Amino acid sequence: MRALDSKLPQVGTTIFTLMSQLAEQHRAVNLSQGFPDFRPPLELLELVERALAGRYHQYALMPGSMALRAAIADKLAALYSVRVDAAAEVTVTSGATEAIFDAIQAVVRRDDEVIVFDPCYDSYEPSITLAGGRTVHVPLTGSRFGIDWDRLKSALSARTRLVIVNSPHNPSGALLDSADFERLAELLRSYDCYLLSDEVYEHVVFDGAKHATALAHAELRERCVAVFSFGKTYHATGWKLGYAVAPAALTAELRRVHQYVTFASTSPLQQALAEYMTAHPEHHLKLPEFYQERRDYFARLLAGTKFRPLHAAGTYFQLADYSAISSLPDVEFARWLTIEHGVATIPISVFYREPPDARLVRFCFAKENATLDAAAERLRRL
Ligand SMILES: Cc1ncc(COP(=O)(O)O)c(C=O)c1O
Repeated sequence: MRALDSKLPQVGTTIFTLMSQLAEQHRAVNLSQGFPDFRPPLELLELVERALAGRYHQYALMPGSMALRAAIADKLAALYSVRVDAAAEVTVTSGATEAIFDAIQAVVRRDDEVIVFDPCYDSYEPSITLAGGRTVHVPLTGSRFGIDWDRLKSALSARTRLVIVNSPHNPSGALLDSADFERLAELLRSYDCYLLSDEVYEHVVFDGAKHATALAHAELRERCVAVFSFGKTYHATGWKLGYAVAPAALTAELRRVHQYVTFASTSPLQQALAEYMTAHPEHHLKLPEFYQERRDYFARLLAGTKFRPLHAAGTYFQLADYSAISSLPDVEFARWLTIEHGVATIPISVFYREPPDARLVRFCFAKENATLDAAAERLRRL
């Protein structure tokens, strides 16, 4: 048989897997991959056990458990004053990753263009490529990683089918506010194009800022799929549960894909989350403070090193400039740091099509203090 022509020839093992493997091999403190090392709330775990002991073992409804979708709709109303129809506009997926894939397959056709902002999350482009689309990379600018509106304007055309935004932004932590969404709405107005708003870190915002959701903008709401992740909100990335919110017609198309990607996501976890969300709406309200304490703790530790942290407005990532330590390119620096000094990070050039000449790595600070302390002790020696 002929060798298989790869549909994704550019794609290898992701840097996240590679750095985690390297960290394990060299017994490094792993601040690379974005997962917390603390547990989900105990009561949530008890609800999972109850669901497993009970009757939640067969397929959930294709769009998600109705109880969970109702809890999601209640949360959107309480937190953002956004009213959604739980039956027709909310779809539970196997992680935000699946929601992103489904949304892209649903709207992007062969040769359509999709605009993404670099540095950008790694799952967008392969999904666009599989849909036959072309990814147009627009770099974010400055140390605050803002949208360059002129560049976005010149990137938009009749071929643009989708624009993908991510706020709070991985890896920079930058936030979009309601003025940004207003500006985006003005620019998209004359194009027949959709918006995918990746809001998985919605609850990880600092210094009193409030997360702005694209769903709260009436005009964007009509063309928007917003995606969220239970993994990020409940310290349970391994559960791979998320959801997509979109107008009914767009949701119907997204579900046509979802139906044949996973059909339905894990039943007992959906049941437990529905009960927990209803009983504990305060859980997500406490997250900004919880993560801000960790951001500040890690910033104090970094102050004793030669790393220069950039402003982090949201997410559980901290970018830091290492030019006072080394002039190595970031991928080599990250390998060297892991192998020789026992701390694993992510080099940020991997989030770009055309990496800038920067000396930046990304630390994940969603870790117990002891883990951060162990990393800092090693970083102070540099
Ligand atoms: C920006 C962004 N979007 C989506 C995801 C995927 O979320 P999930 O784990 O729910 O699939 C992540 C996970 O790291 C992320 O950082």
